[in-house]
Amino acid sequence: HTVEWDVTMAEKAGHSHYMHKEIHEQGMVLRTTLKGRISDGRVDLSKDLNWTQEDAQRWKKVHIIACGTSYYAALVAERVFERWTDLDIRVDIASEYRYRNLRCDPETLAIFVSQSGETADTIAAQRKARAEGAHCMAITNVRGSTLAREVHSILLLKAGPEIGVAATKTFTGQVAALFLSALYLGRLRGSMTADEEARLVNEFLQIPYKVENVLEKENEVIKLAQKYHDRQDFLFIGRGISFPVALEGALKLKEISYIHAEAYAAGEMKHGPIALLDEKVPVMAIIPRDMMYEKTLSNVLEAKARKAPVIGVCTEGDEHASKYMDDYVEVPWTDEEFSPFLTVIPLQLFAFHVAKILGKEIDQPRNLAKSVTVE
Ligand code: G6P
Repeated sequence: HTVEWDVTMAEKAGHSHYMHKEIHEQGMVLRTTLKGRISDGRVDLSKDLNWTQEDAQRWKKVHIIACGTSYYAALVAERVFERWTDLDIRVDIASEYRYRNLRCDPETLAIFVSQSGETADTIAAQRKARAEGAHCMAITNVRGSTLAREVHSILLLKAGPEIGVAATKTFTGQVAALFLSALYLGRLRGSMTADEEARLVNEFLQIPYKVENVLEKENEVIKLAQKYHDRQDFLFIGRGISFPVALEGALKLKEISYIHAEAYAAGEMKHGPIALLDEKVPVMAIIPRDMMYEKTLSNVLEAKARKAPVIGVCTEGDEHASKYMDDYVEVPWTDEEFSPFLTVIPLQLFAFHVAKILGKEIDQPRNLAKSVTVE
């Protein structure tokens, strides 16, 4: 008899979908992204970026501009730029940025984040910033892309091709590339002590292993998907660096399962979304043990008081929070800044398994394109 050789199956390396394969590649992607860019406890991007000490000293502002998941990666990074550097930072959606009248000038480092490097609005925003004299940098997965060819400097993602329309490994890859940029900038500007940098770099190097640890909890997430896949609405909440993670988790769920999902900064719940809560609307709470922990927990209690089922993404061993949750998934402890790499994984897996149970076209959801090359 003959063996059926299915090329697509081979490309998916035994996974049912590209998205599943790509979710599971994230440990490896992070390792590759860090490789050669960290030595002796310091971040060194001099092989990637042509920045001089003078450039870094001249800049007063950082603008990060992107669309979709890349925008959420930028929102995560915003929280570390404001800690690790002494620069003013703002993050914008490309389709808004390009039509606004923001102060952008030679004292601005403008970072454009785009997996494909072909997103029309991001390219247009780059042209505008460039004309205004900013130093334009791209973080992209595609070396020969339009964006990559037009900017002054590039930090390449080394994520490998991403086929699934919903971005997963490039999200964590972009967050890592942005974190490296922030650390490097902090170093060039002297806004971070060598001790602080060494401590952060040390934890950064552990992240790929911790990501793989979370991926091993897939069976727990499958159980959650089985329990909640028939819900019509979800509310995702988080504070601080977990707020953009909530945004990304809600985006993944709506993109591939077509379930209505909203994300809110947990402190904003009282200003509207709490009116929607009842026993039919699950709340996904991103609540790692960090500075904002107690505050988010108080919002979890408010949701419980409206009978909403709460699913927590918590830190391992947090028996306090888990007492209040209907269900929870634990992620390993890490420094506050790095928690998004871990907390986003259960959300990606949740979206994937809900969509799978519902029989949706996971790799090619309706109405969506991998890269949006028109306005
Ligand atoms: C589309 C894709 C998203 C992606 C966004 C931005 O909407 O479906 O996955 O995040 O474009 O794409 P880019 O290539 O600029 O990162």
